[in-house]
Amino acid sequence: MKILVASAIHPDALEALEAKHDLVRAFNAPEDVLKEVIRDREILIFRSGVQITAAVMEQAPELKLLIRAGSGTDNIDLDYVRERGLKLVRIPGPGAKAVAEMAFGLMLALARNILPADQLTRQGRWAKHQMTGYLLTEKVLGVVGAGNIGSRVGWMGAAWGMTVLGCVEHPTPEKEARLREKGIRLTHCQEVLSQADFVSIHVPLKENTRNLIDAQALAMMKPGAFLVNLARGGVVDELALRDALVRGHLRGAALDVHAQEGEGKISPLADLPNVVLTPHIGAGTFDSQAEIGRIILDTVTTFAQSQADGAAEPVGASPSTL
Ligand code: MLT
Repeated sequence: MKILVASAIHPDALEALEAKHDLVRAFNAPEDVLKEVIRDREILIFRSGVQITAAVMEQAPELKLLIRAGSGTDNIDLDYVRERGLKLVRIPGPGAKAVAEMAFGLMLALARNILPADQLTRQGRWAKHQMTGYLLTEKVLGVVGAGNIGSRVGWMGAAWGMTVLGCVEHPTPEKEARLREKGIRLTHCQEVLSQADFVSIHVPLKENTRNLIDAQALAMMKPGAFLVNLARGGVVDELALRDALVRGHLRGAALDVHAQEGEGKISPLADLPNVVLTPHIGAGTFDSQAEIGRIILDTVTTFAQSQADGAAEPVGASPSTL
């Protein structure tokens, strides 16, 4: 098959694909480059950090299969994908485990002052009494977007001895029951925001979630609460968050995703001491990426076989499809 890999995936998967297929790499390439390299490609593999626009896909008449090596679909023109009838395979499971664990890493980093404590200790300053922090146990965890990743965060929070509240865009009795089994009480987002000591954001970026956490939502949050965002940068209004942190309304925030991402981009929160910033590494564990790589290989193999057999649809791929 003719494959374009537009993002860095696990090296074992790249090597295995390269051994069997005609593979072009263009990691995180801009639109004009993608428009050139995609021309004769049948399969496109990508993650976040690259924009898969209609203009890019239009250049590839042979394109049939898109593999989103992860969860988010905010960087692909889904209307175009549907109109043209392209097959889109998402692989959300493996990254969810990594993102959920990282949510706890960030909550702990904030609650226990781990980054400033590290910096001071390296400087020879023994700030033992200035670095007193907070427990997660017996606190309220609020999960905004209790879906695939968020419900995992909530389940882990419950195991940690936290009271867990969650909200979803379309609540149903079935979802409520499923979340209850994981120790999460489904309620309105307003209650989640106003009751939680730690708020973790896990909604996809869509028209109705852009700046969901704006000045008004931040004002609803409990004074002294912590905010963690591992979803998408556009979901949180960074300037409003800055204001809430500077005024001391929020005690701290950790952001793995940012309105502006990439080399040379500096967050408007970068000068605040009560903020932890990481470069969109939530899904970035070797384990998760290796698992994603194996699913990519299975998906490509199944698709190639279906093409060879002349079947209209690839079969057997386990990941979620659009
Ligand atoms: C995802 O949506 O799966 C994550 O943002 C990870 C990524 O693709 O880089």
